Amino acid sequence: MSGGQVKSYSVRTFGCQMNVHDSERISGLLEDAGYVAATDGADADLVVFNTCAIRENADNKLYGNLSHLAPVKSARPGMQIAVGGCLAQKDKDVVLRKAPWVDVVFGTHNIGSLPALLDRARHNEQAQVEILDSLETFPSTLPARRDSAYSGWVSVSVGCNNTCTFCIVPSLRGKEVDRRPGDVLAEVRALVDQGVLEVTLLGQNVNAYGMSFADPDTPRNRGAFAELLRACGDIEGLERVRFTSPHPAEFTDDVIEAMAQTPNICPQLHMPLQSGSDRVLKAMRRSYRKKKFLGILDRVREAMPHAAITTDIIVGFPGETEEDFLETLDVVEKARFSSAFTFQYSARPGTPAATMDDQVPPEVVTERYQRLIALQERICLDENTRLIGSDVELLVVADEGRKNSATGRMTGRARDGRLVHFAAGDRTDIRPGDVVTSTITGAAPHHLVADAGVASVRRTRAGDAHEAGTLPTTAPVGVGLGMPTIGAAPIEPATSGCGTGGCS
Ligand code: 5AD
Ligand code: SF4
Repeated sequence: MSGGQVKSYSVRTFGCQMNVHDSERISGLLEDAGYVAATDGADADLVVFNTCAIRENADNKLYGNLSHLAPVKSARPGMQIAVGGCLAQKDKDVVLRKAPWVDVVFGTHNIGSLPALLDRARHNEQAQVEILDSLETFPSTLPARRDSAYSGWVSVSVGCNNTCTFCIVPSLRGKEVDRRPGDVLAEVRALVDQGVLEVTLLGQNVNAYGMSFADPDTPRNRGAFAELLRACGDIEGLERVRFTSPHPAEFTDDVIEAMAQTPNICPQLHMPLQSGSDRVLKAMRRSYRKKKFLGILDRVREAMPHAAITTDIIVGFPGETEEDFLETLDVVEKARFSSAFTFQYSARPGTPAATMDDQVPPEVVTERYQRLIALQERICLDENTRLIGSDVELLVVADEGRKNSATGRMTGRARDGRLVHFAAGDRTDIRPGDVVTSTITGAAPHHLVADAGVASVRRTRAGDAHEAGTLPTTAPVGVGLGMPTIGAAPIEPATSGCGTGGCS
């Protein structure tokens, strides 16, 4: 880095899990380039915004944040601001027009260029905008600074080949590109070797995995995702595997079987519904129908009776009538989701739905939205109440995992993904990353309570690493876009945390 002295950085992340994981790569790259993470609350020499564009308020949030930073930057010579991610990919030089004090704008396809762009902006004393139309480097081939000692993200693919009419993602993240199974598994193993207990496989549409390998020598394979799940089952020390997100149109029974038959795959499924009305689903260009969706849930529950199923629902898609909305409520009633991410439809310029007739008036959308939330809250509470008396195994989580001084409770995540606040009693030795068992004694819509005391505590290597403040590292794993990466670093040997610190 030019200038000689060490610069501090901070990354602010908006949006989905893909972005959270991309931010781990951004941080890894910056640390490789000599930056150090800013201490909490301190002003950083570099602030990177990793942005989201999925809904309108994401735009407002970013530009609001940038305005706040303008006076900070004027008072701090040499400070730089970079904006990357989906909104940068969408807005390109509009970012600079709205916030001319930004130094670098980079997109979703060229994360790896960030350090060079920062140097160039500093050297030329001129803002740099670099947005590419297709993927330059698969983010998994970049170094990562991981957020957690016990839980890790691993990408199986980037991009999406679907054409949902409301969604801006395909135009921002590009066509789907899949990683080789061997590369995915090598990254999972590298994390587990360092004590990580839980891995979440990430892709915009994981069940399309296998049809778009970047590597031309890897044969196309429709069963690739189920095979990948089964292969995760063979990784010793890997206790919990989750994945997000599948698409109901292509969700096949081989994945359900692999989930049910592989003990470390968690009984949890995120299955985006979007709408319960066949007419609206058609207009959304989502090729499944209500009956098929409910059929998938039946088969999942037949194979895994205790599976927690979550979903995404959009209210107020153009043309949605009261009758259509009642169909959504009907599916929600039948589906018994353990939780639902509910969204008011937001027109995204450039998507087909944005110019459809019959945009639903905002007051109608809000009224429906409130009815949907009320129904789902009742179901969340009912479903959680049914769990009272059952035994749970909890992976203690950080942030909320600290003992709450008022209640004496800590927090863990059950195998099915539910959040559980548990009474730790006089056990002062429990750390984030450790595994405890307890019994559920209380329920609320969005969490459970286990006040029966812990039945067992298992101190883990992840807990040791968390306590020591060390985090797993993964060297760039695998090949780039179809071509072997010449001189790619080998996977890190087993070490318990060569710690590059921090938590998002
Ligand atoms: N308006 C509202 N919600 C949207 N989503 C995606 N695009 C839009 C939009 N234009 C929701 C979908 C998706 C989730 C990540 O965000 O429900 O599954
Ligand atoms: Fe994630 Fe989509 Fe938002 Fe991009 S636009 S951050 S892919 S949710």
